[in-house]
Amino acid sequence: MNFATALQGLQDLEPTVEEFRDAVFRGLGNMPKTLPCKFFYDAQGSRLFDRICELPEYYPTRTECALLAARAEDIAACVGPQVELIEFGSGAGVKIRLLLAALIDPAAYVPVDISRDHLMLAAGTLARDFPDLRVAPVCADYSNPFALPHLPGLFPERRVGFFPGSTIGNFTPEEATDFLRGAARLLGPGSMMIVGVDLPKDPAILHAAYDDPAGVTAAFNLNLLRRINRELDADFDIGAFAHEARWNRPASRVEMHLISRTAQTVRVGGRRFDFRTGESIHTENSYKFGIDAFARLARAAGYAKVATWTDPAALFSVHVLEAVGPS
Ligand SMILES: C[S@@+](CC[C@H](N)C(=O)[O-])C[C@H]1O[C@@H](n2cnc3c(N)ncnc32)[C@H](O)[C@@H]1O
Repeated sequence: MNFATALQGLQDLEPTVEEFRDAVFRGLGNMPKTLPCKFFYDAQGSRLFDRICELPEYYPTRTECALLAARAEDIAACVGPQVELIEFGSGAGVKIRLLLAALIDPAAYVPVDISRDHLMLAAGTLARDFPDLRVAPVCADYSNPFALPHLPGLFPERRVGFFPGSTIGNFTPEEATDFLRGAARLLGPGSMMIVGVDLPKDPAILHAAYDDPAGVTAAFNLNLLRRINRELDADFDIGAFAHEARWNRPASRVEMHLISRTAQTVRVGGRRFDFRTGESIHTENSYKFGIDAFARLARAAGYAKVATWTDPAALFSVHVLEAVGPS
């Protein structure tokens, strides 16, 4: 196969601007105000996220990459040969390369991401670097049901979902359980999931990771307001909001907020939203699950544990799960 045949056409289910607007209206109409974190990822948001991954304070990326590299052979042994890989929230497509280096004769790779331009760039680069692999990108919101692309002549031994980056922590535990159940339905009987999960740890380490001194995470959070201005005819004054990261210990999650520095009114798509001084827009949760807590969640979603690994400093975990259905 060459690059032209390796890269399949895009299956495009990108959320529409109307869906974005409705979600923003709903979130800003809530009390307290919220915005869904999936809308962080326009082209600029994806670039900023890639910069976050390079920050010295952002331990999850380098820790998970080291763990995947160290355990790639073990993971390959767990999932077996000729698998179809489906990556949820594939981003820059860096981590899948660590698995591809060890997997035996993988049948196809389906990167799924909401950020279309970034997805196409990453899929094209991967198809060039792995010319024998069929790469079939899907632009979709994975929190809604979607179908996998039909790849003629593809008969994988099994389907394997890959969900790294602790992105599962952006769901509430109930949403995460629903997501895993939906993934089992999508991937079918005998499927497996490889999930990267961030562990609870010293709040000072967490705080630095989500509020770096270089201000990249702040720019990433504030980019959501810039995106609303760009796409929804809004007039957020970006300088009138401040990024804040909070460790919510009882909920075991880091929260990201945008705090209104002043009393102000913002117009979005013909509607007005009032803010008090100090009022927050809650933009993201990043839940941290201990090993046992995540095992319970996976079990409730119909998965049996195949293997779990952590790094030596117990910062991050990687789980291999098999869909076995309700217990
Ligand atoms: C935290 S980043 C992780 C990226 C990469 N997997 C990693 O581990 O570095 C989350 C990724 O998921 C994508 N994403 C977030 N929410 C999504 C959703 N609801 N549906 C599809 N993709 C989503 C983002 O565009 C981004 O690429």
